[in-house]
Parts: sequence; structure tokens; C-alpha cells
Amino acid sequence: MKCLGIETSCDETSIAIIEGQTLLHEALHTQIPVHAVFGGVVPEIASREHLRLLDALAQDIDAELLQSIDLIAVTRGPGLLGALLIGIAYAKALALALEIPVIGVHHLHAHLLACELNGQLIDYPAIGLLVSGGHTHLYLMRSAVDFTVLGKTLDDAAGEAFDKIAKLLNLPYPGGKYIDLLAAQGTAMKNILPKPYIHNDNCDFSFSGLKTAAAQFIRTHAIEALPYDTFDPAVVPDSIKDLCATLNMTIAETLCIKTDRAIHAHPEVRSLCVAGGVAANAHVRARCAQLANERGLKFFVPSQSYCGDNGAMVAYAGTQVARHGYISPLDFEAIPRGRHVPADYIVNHFFKE
Ligand code: KG4
Ligand code: ZN
Repeated sequence: MKCLGIETSCDETSIAIIEGQTLLHEALHTQIPVHAVFGGVVPEIASREHLRLLDALAQDIDAELLQSIDLIAVTRGPGLLGALLIGIAYAKALALALEIPVIGVHHLHAHLLACELNGQLIDYPAIGLLVSGGHTHLYLMRSAVDFTVLGKTLDDAAGEAFDKIAKLLNLPYPGGKYIDLLAAQGTAMKNILPKPYIHNDNCDFSFSGLKTAAAQFIRTHAIEALPYDTFDPAVVPDSIKDLCATLNMTIAETLCIKTDRAIHAHPEVRSLCVAGGVAANAHVRARCAQLANERGLKFFVPSQSYCGDNGAMVAYAGTQVARHGYISPLDFEAIPRGRHVPADYIVNHFFKE
């Protein structure tokens, strides 16, 4: 089955074609430079950029390959409403023109299934840790289409914590990857930042206090933010590099404490899967791999280039969902972030939130 996937939920415009686990075509355009000047994603600009770019990316697909597609998959949510609508409208029109089915894919589902894009197959049941800019979720993954939420963030996501603290230091947007880069040159300081919301017995997260703690540390230690708009790792002081290393360690440890709790609650699991933008983080990858090893679990994580948003993961998730017999009706709606999930939301069958 050849599936064309479209991703437009936030600030990446991407189309990919997958057959099984083989990538046949891929195009990805990041809007980060457009939003960076505002220090965050501007939803209206994101929608207009998707509108401008999506058809241009689709035009590059080989005509014969396009005609051979069996299925269209598109991110249905969660995401920015206007941005989702551009992708969904395009996907529906293409499905109509090619006379093939269309399927609305859950963005977080797609992130986790991206663990298989490198050719491996997840050994189910698994614990899934989804860490992105907008979400931090722990799932029990019984199969490719049966996920149950075990915990989620009550406020900021892990990626949001990285990005907000990076902003305090005037690192470029989005800051997670720059913190990671500087952390590699710094030394983590123990007991400087609190591991937030661990003194309980649940699998939920709360990262908003970490930003406050980091801001306090920056103030009390008189750490000066970098000059605006001139990022050069060579001239970043050690105090900032050490803070970045500490932040990497604190977030990775916190994620692992809750993930370990989920593993203990489900002794039947065979694997640990970690995905989403923050799964690109070197320390998060290493600590989660170590945790899996200590617990005798197989470890799955997408290659770094498939941790962020991309069309390949959407195409792959669409293939998996369709294989299990699900197809969306042509009038399916977008499910923006924060909206109540209606009963007909196909992925609701899999994500019992
Ligand atoms: O999954 P994603 O591309 O978009 C959402 O669905 O949110 O995740 C984006 C997030 C951003 O917060 C970004 O700063 C973070 O992933 N991120 C990282 C790294 N690379 C991207 N955070 C920490 N370390 C990284 N290397
Ligand atoms: Zn994402």
C-alpha cells in the first residue's frame, strides 16, 4: 500500500510517500525562520505559509508515482486550527481527484509510530513517551492502533520548558536544540534545579515551575543573557553552558522517573518508545536508552531527523491505521489543540484519552 502523508499541524509543511517502511518521496519545508522573528509560531502566518507551500511541494512529486498512490493520510490534530485545515482541505481534494480514500491521523500517534521509520518493528506492548513542543504524554501502546494515555502534562510540555528557558537566555528560536548543543560543552550541576512534580504516585508531568526555577537561578547568579540575534556558541560563557547541561539532565531525569513509574505499573511491556521533537535531545535519548536497558526492555526512538514534525510519520501512521480497517469519512473535521474530541474521531478508538 502506497500512502501519501501530509503534515501541516504547526510550523513544518511536509509531504511524503511511504510504501510499507520504505520512503519513496519526501519534501519538508520548515517555517522556523519566518516565525523566529516573533519568538514563537504566529498561527495566521503558519496557515498562509502552508497554503503557499503545500501545492508547490506536491507539484514536485513524480506524476507516475502520484497516480500510483493508494491512500492519503493527513494530520487531523492536535495542532493549530488554520494550519490543520490547509492540510486537510488539500488532502481531501487530492483524494477526490485520485479517487482514493483519505484518513485523518492523530499527530501524537504518528510521532510514536515514527519509531518504525528506520525499518525496525516495535515489540508490543510498549510504554510510549511522547515529548514535543506542545505535549508530554505517557502511553501504554498495546498495538499500533491501541494506545491508552497513562499520564500527560498538566501545564507546559517538556519542549515548551526548553524553549521558554532558552528565551530567557536569548538563544535562537526554538531553543531546545540550542540548549542541547550548549549542554554538550557544559557540566551539569547537581541539585540546582528541582525535578518538577515527582513527589506523587502518578505519571503526569508539570514543567511550568522549572521555568520559574531557572529564571530565579539566572537572576541570583547574575547570568547575563546572550546578545540578541548574534548566536555564536564559541563565545557563550561556561555559566550558560553549565546551566544548559543542568537543564538537559533535569528534564531527562524527570521524564525517566515518570516513565519508570509507567513501566513498573505495566510489567507486561516489552519495549520503551520515545518520540517527538524533544526525543532529538542527546541526553533524553541516552537516559531513556539506559532506562530501557536497566529494565530489560527493547528501546525504540526515531532517527533525529524524524523526531520533529514530518510527512513520513503521517504517511506511516496512515498505513498502520488503514491496515486495521479504518478510513475517515470525507467530511471529517480538524481537531485543534484543546478541543474536546468527538465520539466519531477515528483515533479516539486508539487514544482513550
Ligand atoms: O514534535 P515537534 O517538532 O513539534 C510539536 O509537535 O510540538 O517538537 C518541537 C519541540 C520544540 O519545543 C523544540 O525546541 C524541541 O522539540 N526540540 C528539542 C530538540 N530539538 C527539538 N528539545 C530539546 N533538545 C533538542 N535537541
Ligand atoms: Zn509534533
